[in-house]
Amino acid sequence: MTATTATPSHAAGSPTAPAPRPVSEAPGATTLLAVGRELAAIRKDPVRSLELSSARHGGRPFQLSAPGAHASLFINDPEGAKEVLLTHQDDYEKSSQYEILQRVLGLGLVTSEGELWREHRSIVQPVFAGRAIGAFAQYMVAAASDALDRWDATWTDGQEIDLSVEMSMLTLDIVGRALVGTDFSARSTEFGAALGDMLEAAGAIGRSPVTHISGGIKRMGVGRGMNLQPRRLQRMNAAIDVLDDVILELIERRRRSTDEHDDLLAVLMGYRHPETGEPLSATALRDELMTFVTAGHETTANGLSWMWGLLSQHPSARAQLLTEVDEVLGGDRTPDYDDLRRLEWTTACFQESMRLFPPVWIVQRRAKVDTVAAGYAIPAGTVISISPWVIHRDARNWPNPAGYDPSRFIGDAPKDRPRLAYLPFAAGRRMCIGQGFAMMEATIVTAMLSQRYTFDLVPTARLETDPSITLRPRHGMPVIAHRR
Ligand code: HEM
Repeated sequence: MTATTATPSHAAGSPTAPAPRPVSEAPGATTLLAVGRELAAIRKDPVRSLELSSARHGGRPFQLSAPGAHASLFINDPEGAKEVLLTHQDDYEKSSQYEILQRVLGLGLVTSEGELWREHRSIVQPVFAGRAIGAFAQYMVAAASDALDRWDATWTDGQEIDLSVEMSMLTLDIVGRALVGTDFSARSTEFGAALGDMLEAAGAIGRSPVTHISGGIKRMGVGRGMNLQPRRLQRMNAAIDVLDDVILELIERRRRSTDEHDDLLAVLMGYRHPETGEPLSATALRDELMTFVTAGHETTANGLSWMWGLLSQHPSARAQLLTEVDEVLGGDRTPDYDDLRRLEWTTACFQESMRLFPPVWIVQRRAKVDTVAAGYAIPAGTVISISPWVIHRDARNWPNPAGYDPSRFIGDAPKDRPRLAYLPFAAGRRMCIGQGFAMMEATIVTAMLSQRYTFDLVPTARLETDPSITLRPRHGMPVIAHRR
């Protein structure tokens, strides 16, 4: 994953385009003092400080490049993001942000590169293709029904609960049933807590000024078996042990099972290399499962938690949601795949929530070769950061950007915006493979929970962000649950 020296790509640009400027001319921080100041602000409140920096530079690219390190450029407009993630995507690889994640996920689909990534993506792609994901609806419905029954049995009307914990348990249950045929419920609290610890520790390491200034954690000799900040590392390693244990147990259980399965786990375990006939190694299997179980539930849980908080603050949007759910499903019919397109407002409530609180708030790439982006000549090694948070709150594409308004996603409204003005799932070859799964899950869960409950934020609740690897609500999502 180290940057190579330049092989000419389209670095010269088209003959008619103005010559790209050296990236060193981009506005921003380039002295140690200025970079240090910016990083201190980022550490304190990453998403807001990036938003403010972007506004200060008129929405144009800006840099945060420590002397002697590779340049680090922030590009937060849809056209620039498109150049990096789509048009010139071959010129980039994933950056240091993902090397930290590798510590826990290993080399699964989120963190791998090159041939390994290509081979594994083609193995799992059919599981997530088009209508194939329709088969997952039954598991989503069953998991939501079980959660509702549990709530009915244990909650009193007006009960105060932390919805972020409930959403995490529910989405883990869904991934367990749909992808690996496993009931995680016995260990979901333990798994959720370990994942929280791991993300917190990894996020803190990733945000540390040392990581940024070094231009990449690998260059500091930090990777698997890394040795920094003993207390944080200890917590992260303990969390990884718990996560590993859960994953290895589920592989073992499947090995012993005589039942027929056609889920993701079966596809991974049944794979044989076309030339060598070799199955996936035990490490590759562990890494992919860890990747799908964690990436497949944590992000959706965050998106749903933010949505319930926002709906509580916006009663008219919530009233419209309840009306739609009642019209499409009535009081107690469970949704099926064909209901999904009729639950347009329900889906839009989730989309609009991911606009304001994108679960993946920053996407990073590192240039493998010399290239161009946003009018700058980008030398190999440059790290480009693209923040869905900043792009989603840019008034140039989102009038009244701070307002929660699901109608932005109704009918043809999205056609009036540039394609990458909205990119919660990123774009290009590395875009989220679980996008269809997540959208179906969010719509089913939102509709079913709304049939039976409404949630009001407790009066003291504050929607504050805790941007570690994903964008979690800092204080959970404390709400009062009302039975409808
Ligand atoms: C609302 C929920 C979700 C959001 C916002 C989200 C967001 C993202 C984003 C932004 C990326 C690209 C990261 C990058 O390029 O740097 C990504 C990749 C990925 N996501 Fe998701 N995701 C969600 C749900 C899911 C689900 C449900 C699954 C699995 C069932 C999943 C599995 C993955 C995997 C495996 C990758 C790596 C894909 C690759 O590089 O080939 N995600 N996700």
